[in-house]
Amino acid sequence: MQQYQHISAKAFGPDFQWGVAMAAAQNEGAYNIDGRGLSIWDVFSRRQGKIKGAAKPYEACDFYHRYKDDLVLVKALGFRVFRFSISWSRVLPEGMGRVNKEGIAFYNKLIDECLALDLVPYVTLYHWDLPQELEKNGGWTSHQMLKWFTRFVNVCTEAFGDRVKNWIVMNEPMGFTSLGYMMGKHAPGKTGLSNFLPAIHNAALCTAEGGRLVRTAVRGANIGTTFSCSEVMAHTGRDEDLMAAKRADVLLNRLFIEPVLGRGYPHEDHFPLLDKIHLHNKAWKYTERMAFNFDFIGIQNYFATTVKYNALIPYIHAMEVKAATRKVPHTDMGWEINSDSFYRMIKRFWLYGGVKEIIVSENGASFKDQVVNGVVNDEKRIAYFKDYISAMLRAKKEGINIGGYFAWTLTDNFEWSEGYAARFGLVHVDFKTQLRTIKQSGYWFRDLLRSV
Ligand code: NOJ
Repeated sequence: MQQYQHISAKAFGPDFQWGVAMAAAQNEGAYNIDGRGLSIWDVFSRRQGKIKGAAKPYEACDFYHRYKDDLVLVKALGFRVFRFSISWSRVLPEGMGRVNKEGIAFYNKLIDECLALDLVPYVTLYHWDLPQELEKNGGWTSHQMLKWFTRFVNVCTEAFGDRVKNWIVMNEPMGFTSLGYMMGKHAPGKTGLSNFLPAIHNAALCTAEGGRLVRTAVRGANIGTTFSCSEVMAHTGRDEDLMAAKRADVLLNRLFIEPVLGRGYPHEDHFPLLDKIHLHNKAWKYTERMAFNFDFIGIQNYFATTVKYNALIPYIHAMEVKAATRKVPHTDMGWEINSDSFYRMIKRFWLYGGVKEIIVSENGASFKDQVVNGVVNDEKRIAYFKDYISAMLRAKKEGINIGGYFAWTLTDNFEWSEGYAARFGLVHVDFKTQLRTIKQSGYWFRDLLRSV
């Protein structure tokens, strides 16, 4: 892997959007305050053995009460953009029906505070926290999903569209459909194809439809949606491993972007799971409705992955060969650090044609940070950011229209099934006291962004 020592934010140009990203369920806490309804994560976290350390997202970083201080940190670290998500069950406690005025008031205050600090708000509509009331009626597997999502989007655009111009419809649809509705590792903990297939299709539909709804409701909106991506390598050159890598690649990198670009779901021979996905779609005749001309596509890349054939893994017949086993650099979550693969993924998305602008809407790394004498010396994270940002610059210099980069994330937060053990923040949080300590990586960003 290439090591990059010197990078300058100037090289990205004066209009490049440098931001930090976070999500409601991971940061806000205040889960039962001011009329908020429960989300699937509140309920899922009560199930034994599902979340490390039996952690709950109830308090998280208490962003609900500390947003002003946290926004000052965003500003102090030199960022111009603040990406956050709206908790659906805070604004619509039952998912549909009545609007919770206090929920709307919270986001109004948050948005106004961003604007007062000259931070550009990027609002994610769906970042994985479905209202539990909707889950009771099938959640993402339900054919009512589009109707529910339409209501949510309309409530948000009506309330915030006068001040928010940058909208992200969906966060990583592959993440929440596969982990939440196939593997049972994320909320709501469902498994199997009978859940996964309709969840995929409803997520694809809501992505495009959400784009259209925002376009209609918000004048001058800049509309995007985000996709996770990870370059997939075959463990050996054997045919069966190469085919396994191809299958994993379809699911990890192609399944959701291709419908958005008007190509429908990906086609590959010898992958029966895709036939099932196509059948599902055919019955509903919605290929056109899954397409939308987004203003930008958000790419979220954390790691590269290597797979090998394994007959025992259902449908995909592929299994990951962990970075630690292969003795390649990795984060403390075991994710392979490979900035060249990030460069290649950016290029791949661009080479589809039809993507107008790419924003790296998340990128970051988790390490076991510790505060020692008031200092968090997270050199490995700094090295990670240096590598990844340099790789992005390489892609940009080749003419790819990359308009922004949002680091994941401001403060350590609730990392889904990893609980509070995985720390991604530029700012350390002591979850007992809520004390914030800027990590060295935070200061590194401040210095980097000073030069813009
Ligand atoms: C992507 C998700 O959008 C975010 O919520 C999560 O914390 C990061 N990946 C790190 O796993």
